[in-house]
Amino acid sequence: MSKNDRPTDIGINRTGIALSPVDGPRMTEGAKAMPPSSDGSARDAAVLRFRYAVEAGEIGHMPPPLSLRGVAEAAVQLLKGHKGNVLLDKLGERLAFERSGVRLYDGLILKLEASGSWEGGPTLEDLVSFRADEARHFEWMVEAMTALGADATAMTPSADLTAVESLGVLQVISDPRTGLAQALHAQQIAELADVAGWDLLSTLAGSLGHGELAAQCRLALTQENLHAASVARWLRAHVETAAHGELARAS
Ligand SMILES: [Fe+2]
Ligand SMILES: [Fe+2]
Repeated sequence: MSKNDRPTDIGINRTGIALSPVDGPRMTEGAKAMPPSSDGSARDAAVLRFRYAVEAGEIGHMPPPLSLRGVAEAAVQLLKGHKGNVLLDKLGERLAFERSGVRLYDGLILKLEASGSWEGGPTLEDLVSFRADEARHFEWMVEAMTALGADATAMTPSADLTAVESLGVLQVISDPRTGLAQALHAQQIAELADVAGWDLLSTLAGSLGHGELAAQCRLALTQENLHAASVARWLRAHVETAAHGELARAS
C-alpha cells in the first residue's frame, strides 16, 4: 500500500475465503476431515488454567512507605491502615497512566504532522493542549504521592496492570503504517479508561477524607471528559467525511 492510499481504498488483502473459489471449499472439507485432537479439549485447557490461577502469586505488591518525615500529621492519620495503601495504589495507577498519556499524545502529534487532519478533525493546538493536560495530571499525582510520604517512582500493582492494558493502544499509535484517525481510535480506549479512572479516584479520595485531592481529581475528570468527547467528535467527523468520499488522501 502506498502512503497515498486510504485504508478504505481497495488494495491487496489476502484474507477472506470467498477470494478462493477452488481452495476455499477444499480447506473446509479438510478441516472437517481432521477434527481437533481429543487429547486436549477446551475443558482440559480450562482445568489447567484454573490450577495456574489458584497456584500463581500476585503480579506485584505495594512498596513499604518511604518515610513519614515531613508528611503532615493529618495525612498520616488519613493513611493509617490498609485503606492508605489502596489509595496510594490508585494514585500510582493514575500517575503511570497519565505519564503514558503524554507519550500517546506525542505519537498523535507526530501523525498529525505527518499526514494532516480533516474537516472537523483535531488541530495541532488541540493535541498540544491535551498533551499538556496529561503532563499536568501526572505532576499532580507525583505531588500527591510525595505529600503522602510515598515514592512516586515506584510502580504500584494497579500501575503495572494499566501498563499492560495500554500495550495495544501504544502499538497502534507507534505503528508507522497507521494514520491519525486510526491512532485516535486507539486513543479513544485510553481516554475512556482515563475518565473512569479519575471518576473512581475522586470518589475514593473523597470517601477517605482527602477533600482537596478529591477536588483535584474532579478537575482532572472534567478535562478527561473533554478529551474523550473531542476524540469521539473527531472520529465521527472522520467517518462521515470518509463515507461521503471527501477525505483527502493520506488522512
Ligand atoms: Fe489522562
Ligand atoms: Fe486524556
